[in-house]
Amino acid sequence: MSAACASSLPADLLDRAREFVAENLGLWFPSERTAELERGLSGFARERGEAGAAVAVRAMLAQAPSRAVLAALAGHLTIGETYFFREPAALDALASVVVPELIARRRASGRVLRLWSAACCTGEEAYSLAILLRRLLPDLDDWSVTILATDVNPGFLSRAAEATYRPWSFRAMPEGVGGAWFVERAQGERTVRDDVRRMVSFGELNLAEDAYPALVNDTNAMDVILCRNVLMYFAPERAARVIERLRRCLVPGGWLVVGAAETSMADFAGFGRVGFEGATIFRRDDGEELAVPAPRPAGRDLPAGEPRGREYDRSPIGDQGWTQDAPPHPSCGLQPAAAFAPETAPEARGSVAGAGTPDPDHAGAEEAASPASRVRELANAGRLEEALELCGSALERARLDGELHYLRAMILTERGAVAEAGEALRRTLYADPDFAPAHVALGHLAVRLGRRDEARRHFRNGLALLERRAADEVLPEADGMTAGRMAELVRFAAGHDEPEAAHGRTLL
Ligand SMILES: C[S@@+](CC[C@H](N)C(=O)[O-])C[C@H]1O[C@@H](n2cnc3c(N)ncnc32)[C@H](O)[C@@H]1O
Repeated sequence: MSAACASSLPADLLDRAREFVAENLGLWFPSERTAELERGLSGFARERGEAGAAVAVRAMLAQAPSRAVLAALAGHLTIGETYFFREPAALDALASVVVPELIARRRASGRVLRLWSAACCTGEEAYSLAILLRRLLPDLDDWSVTILATDVNPGFLSRAAEATYRPWSFRAMPEGVGGAWFVERAQGERTVRDDVRRMVSFGELNLAEDAYPALVNDTNAMDVILCRNVLMYFAPERAARVIERLRRCLVPGGWLVVGAAETSMADFAGFGRVGFEGATIFRRDDGEELAVPAPRPAGRDLPAGEPRGREYDRSPIGDQGWTQDAPPHPSCGLQPAAAFAPETAPEARGSVAGAGTPDPDHAGAEEAASPASRVRELANAGRLEEALELCGSALERARLDGELHYLRAMILTERGAVAEAGEALRRTLYADPDFAPAHVALGHLAVRLGRRDEARRHFRNGLALLERRAADEVLPEADGMTAGRMAELVRFAAGHDEPEAAHGRTLL
């Protein structure tokens, strides 16, 4: 954009645009970055087919921010700089200490691992995590591994799902690694190997919104979150809010990795700082005694070398965490819908201590939580086994409790038991045929199983029920989420509102 065009935006309009961007995308453009903001707004105007930035900005400010507007804006204002094994000291710490210890603990209890690359850009970070896990887990196919990768920019997510990269994306990878994990293409491009690719689910998520933690987008009960090189673009108080939300997305003792330049931009309340060679990583601290991992010297040979003390397997693997016939989750969709919304995070409701000794019949006592809310607390804390147990015992007493069946379905989905989850959702609908999130969740399961017609039917049913409700009506069965927001998410998941998108998902 030319300087003349930039200066055509009146100062007050520019300031309102600046606020709008900060409010809705979290991105803060201080005065010294005004030219960048103006360039972005001009690009946004061109993409929207408006006659100049001023017209586009006025139109943008005149309406409640839609997903389409925010996506377009993000496309012009966000920075798409990333590469494989970026900031290797933090990845070394994960590979040499954090993940091996998680694996050791989980090997005895559930074999579940959940990682999230928040602000994943074009996917290199998420695939780096997948490679790291492939190397550390020789018996990967016996585990339920989630690697969620989200970004606000759908254009980046499409590229991430394609998983083909130019040589520049490999600038931090030692020579010789590409052959193992990538398929060589023309002109030095490489595509991530299918087995690695299948480990990652992509989804759109704006960190400035309040849509996390929530099972509706699979952002709860994470073991490790990487949110790197994005908070630096946020105003400090907004970055602090994101950090607090991410804390609630972690299981107690879970790990947050931010960019090396971001470790002192907030006070990281509720986290302990753990120092590793060349990296500081944050650990969710709930005041309980946690085993402190011994920082070990971290080598720089991670991508090329063998994982310390472990064998690794380069043979093809099955789909992670799903029953045999379940294909990987398609790109850029939502995970099966569920109901653990922000308001239900453990610390917002008090401790989950004691939830393992439930008394579902004692719901009359003022302080006693309902079985459903105690199930949520346990699930949010990553105690899926106990949550399932409590759900089961509560259902013995109330066989037609749709909400409990639904929660059970969500937990089973998270554990990879697709067939059982489907059955639990059908029971939900038997108990309450108007339970919209259950229709939506069935749609997501059908997508995973490659049953597009079935998915279409479930999404349509869910959407029809949601559209009967006021857009701002809070859905009690999906704590805190409004009917309008869920409808929007369904339309997005089904590709309804962006048929031109590269995801090829036009299910409605
Ligand atoms: C510099 S890249 C970082 C990529 C990767 N995490 C890394 O460290 O290499 C910043 C990413 O943040 C994303 N981003 C910016 N604002 C965001 C928001 N509000 N919510 C989610 N992602 C956002 C951008 O789209 C971009 O992909």
